[in-house]
Amino acid sequence: MLLRWFKQHGRHDLPWRQTDNPYHIYVSEIMLQQTQVERVLQKYEPFLQKFPTLQSLRMASDEELLAQWSGLGYYRRALAMKKVAELVDTLPKNIQELQKLPGIGKYTAHAIASFAFNQSVPVVDVNIERVLRRFFALTGSQKEIWQKASEFLDKTSPKEHNLALMDLGSLVCVQNPKCENCPLQKSCKGQNEPQTYWSKGKREH
Ligand code: ADE
Repeated sequence: MLLRWFKQHGRHDLPWRQTDNPYHIYVSEIMLQQTQVERVLQKYEPFLQKFPTLQSLRMASDEELLAQWSGLGYYRRALAMKKVAELVDTLPKNIQELQKLPGIGKYTAHAIASFAFNQSVPVVDVNIERVLRRFFALTGSQKEIWQKASEFLDKTSPKEHNLALMDLGSLVCVQNPKCENCPLQKSCKGQNEPQTYWSKGKREH
């Protein structure tokens, strides 16, 4: 159901979903960490035209780099990418190795492993967290969310599954959720057992 919904309604035109270049996907994830999709859409392609490879990023001066980053904010992210380019020739596939690199936290490491390297790993961003909290009526820690995300992962299409949850969270399972449009509504605890979920002061999720 989820994957069929994704096929029909997913944001397939986002340019970072139309590439399998790990560096390009990495750049998109760093840009998307603290910046809205609409703004990233204006900056992603010009940035990659100027810095098409990790090697070209390594050669860049800080001035060139920051000029290209203007409008995205949080300039520290761009400087961390240059440090990564100085540390590695190619991005590692391994989550632990990715997470050792500057600017790459748990979410970003999992996103790169899933979206760039097609690994069977869960991804939890704020949108996916909201979906999972509602669907499973979770009120616990991040650890619990990641655990559920891992159990829920569709092992045959993990990348599509993660992207589908991400889009469901940003298009349907929004603050005032559009449950009538949701492919998961029949088994959603937030929808079917609101007393166990909504009453726990979690309305903002
Ligand atoms: N596609 C892949 N990663 C994404 C993200 N962080 N936000 C929106 N779309 C994405």
